Amino acid sequence: MGCSSNNATAPAPAIAPGAQRLDPAEIARRTRIDPRIESLAPGFDAPFFQAGLAGYSDAAMRIIARRLGCPYCVTEALLDRTLLAGGRGFAKADLGELHENVPGGVEDHPLAGQIMGSDPDEMASAAARMIERNPPADRGFAAIDVNLACPVKKIKAKARGGHWLREPAGAVAILRAVRDAVPPAVPVTVKMRRGSDDSARAERDFMTIFDAAYEIGCAWVTVHGRTVEQKYVGPSRWSFLRDLVRRRPDRLIFGSGDVWSAADIFRMIGYTGVAAVSVARGCIGDPWVFRQARDLMAGRAPAAPTLAEQRRVLEEHFRLAVAVNGERRAGLMMRKFGIRFAARHPDADAVRQRFIAVRTIEDWRAVLDAHYPRAGSAEPAPALATP
Ligand SMILES: Cc1cc2nc3c(=O)[nH]c(=O)nc-3n(C[C@H](O)[C@H](O)[C@H](O)COP(=O)(O)O)c2cc1C
Repeated sequence: MGCSSNNATAPAPAIAPGAQRLDPAEIARRTRIDPRIESLAPGFDAPFFQAGLAGYSDAAMRIIARRLGCPYCVTEALLDRTLLAGGRGFAKADLGELHENVPGGVEDHPLAGQIMGSDPDEMASAAARMIERNPPADRGFAAIDVNLACPVKKIKAKARGGHWLREPAGAVAILRAVRDAVPPAVPVTVKMRRGSDDSARAERDFMTIFDAAYEIGCAWVTVHGRTVEQKYVGPSRWSFLRDLVRRRPDRLIFGSGDVWSAADIFRMIGYTGVAAVSVARGCIGDPWVFRQARDLMAGRAPAAPTLAEQRRVLEEHFRLAVAVNGERRAGLMMRKFGIRFAARHPDADAVRQRFIAVRTIEDWRAVLDAHYPRAGSAEPAPALATP
């Protein structure tokens, strides 16, 4: 199940007293990308990106996001030992937690490869191998992102992902090993949660790892405002991100958690001062969030996708998913995505039920034919843009 969790909460506001009073359109108009980001990852030209999302953010989802304005993507967390074993084979040996994740060629760039594991040497070798096989010069990985955030339980009593937050010395050893193993020109970045839990000790451990990351030479840290204990339940604490940015104003800090719309991207920037925002569950089934974010930055009203456009994107996503995963797996993926895309349809509940009932690719196409007109044909009013 990777880093996912089926107890994820429905969209809810973050802990950010006063953020609802901010004007996202006004913040968007005056927001520019921090020039340090573009110099570290050329092409990362807007202050938002698509998060790593295990089971979703494969090359097909990433390319769809990019075509709609997403400037930067992160792969799902890839296990170090799986990478060292060379591919799919290891998935079975590790509780099936790896999903194959393919860099999608020239269009899928810039892309961070995210790694996760339990041993500094294995993490370092895996990171070095990723860059050797897919060097930035060949439009491979533009950065290596180290996952210290995944809440999935420990494997054989060994820490990995977010469980490192309770073991700061081990977390720092991993960051140092990976930074040393990756060529200096390639940024190493970190994904962390705001702590393992709500204790004072957890906050101290967070700060130890966070500060060490930059001292070691990591380029930025993306902080998810939930604790590991919280998994995906309950609100993300944007007030933690705001305080962190105030305490460390010179650091490049990115934010994650409870970003459900283009407006939320700029609310988070306005409220916390982070340099870029990770869009995660908010873009599953809504890749238009990236176009809408660019609209807001250009001073335009965010355009909602028409049903014909939703159909075009679903079909395009399907074609890419077949190319990346083969037809059988693409069918499973597109059922999952269809269920999420349905939220943009004026008849959302009915369309969602139809996607849930899909068993074959033919069923999937039948839902499209029944509910999504082709371009040029008459259609009902589009779903409203997300707030
Ligand atoms: C299904 C699912 C899979 C995820 N997989 C990853 C992952 O592989 N790597 C990662 O850094 N974060 C992963 N995350 C965490 C998200 O990137 C993000 O930090 C989190 O969902 C909080 O943002 P949100 O509340 O806006 O969704 C995952 C989250 C979900 C719901």
